[in-house]
Amino acid sequence: MSKTIIPLFKQFENLIDNVPWVELIDHDTPIERLSNLERELGLDSLWVKRDDKTSQVYGGNKPRKLEFILADAKRKGYDSVMTRGGVGSNFCVANAVMCSKLGLQPVAALVDQPINPVVKKNLLINLLYKNELYYIRKGNRVKWLKLWMKLKRRNIYYMLTPGGSVPLGTLAFVNAAVELKEQIDKNEFTEPDYIFVACGSAGTVAGLALGLKLVGIKAKIVAVQVSSFIGYEGTVKLAYDTRNMMFEYDKSVPEVKIDNIIYETDYFGEGYAKPTKEGLEAIELIKKTQNMELESTYTGKTLAALIGFANKKHNSITEKTILFWNTFNSRDFSEVLKKMNYKDLPKNLHWIFEK
Ligand SMILES: Cc1ncc(COP(=O)(O)O)c(C=O)c1O
Repeated sequence: MSKTIIPLFKQFENLIDNVPWVELIDHDTPIERLSNLERELGLDSLWVKRDDKTSQVYGGNKPRKLEFILADAKRKGYDSVMTRGGVGSNFCVANAVMCSKLGLQPVAALVDQPINPVVKKNLLINLLYKNELYYIRKGNRVKWLKLWMKLKRRNIYYMLTPGGSVPLGTLAFVNAAVELKEQIDKNEFTEPDYIFVACGSAGTVAGLALGLKLVGIKAKIVAVQVSSFIGYEGTVKLAYDTRNMMFEYDKSVPEVKIDNIIYETDYFGEGYAKPTKEGLEAIELIKKTQNMELESTYTGKTLAALIGFANKKHNSITEKTILFWNTFNSRDFSEVLKKMNYKDLPKNLHWIFEK
């Protein structure tokens, strides 16, 4: 297994031999100034961390987590990796893409969620990357049971926690925080006061919160609620669980107090994947000013919170340095997906395209 020295391993050397990791993405992701949007919002200093470009094959926050999760699956000798999520899950897609790099078979159990254009696109990317899909309508226990019976004899690594937000996946964002510290030390960026990031299954926020503490960055994380999956306490617990896992492998990992998360619930709207007016406006604004594509489930709501803070709620942030963490894949699949036919998906998913 690859032993490239990622920022996390430089900081905590004893993790190298114990923590599974395989190189899947392009380290480090760039940090860019959003000058036009900054001017539009009357902010002094607004930047973006381009995790939409984590990999040339498929970007977003999930490939970071899969560097650790899929390395674990490989190390333990599995040949398939199963994830679970909504029919439009970015994590299930990321797993399919990254499994293909490692010769693993992806499997995904998909459940209902509100349908939007990303859902259709993601289903077709799943098809492209030969993800073995099982669609189970909410509450259908019999179908779940049948699926377990069917998969029982296979050599499958189960990563059923949504979004890969187990301590091992969360470690990827501890690494991302150390990466950010290195970028600050190299003068690519000044230390931020606030980091705005989507909080879904919370691995991204929990890892960043822990990582910032470990490297001494004082920024507050504005964790923008985009699902009702975990909540503030669960997010903080995940950060502590991740710290404890690190400590098991490296006794130099200090104790920290996770008090750097502002859990922002005002931009969630009616539910997971249900677009909000503010979110859609935020998507339009960043498209117009920066030509950057966001989506309405995660990053649109996150930018809406940032705009809300800038506009009215928290005037004090206008003079601060703000970092928007873009977690959505920006790799364009439009050309290649034209060749895909939804009818090659399992039959019970066709209604999504025929609606
Ligand atoms: C584009 C995007 N942004 C943010 C998130 C939230 O990340 P996390 O689940 O680590 O909270 C997700 C999770 O699915 C996502 O797909």
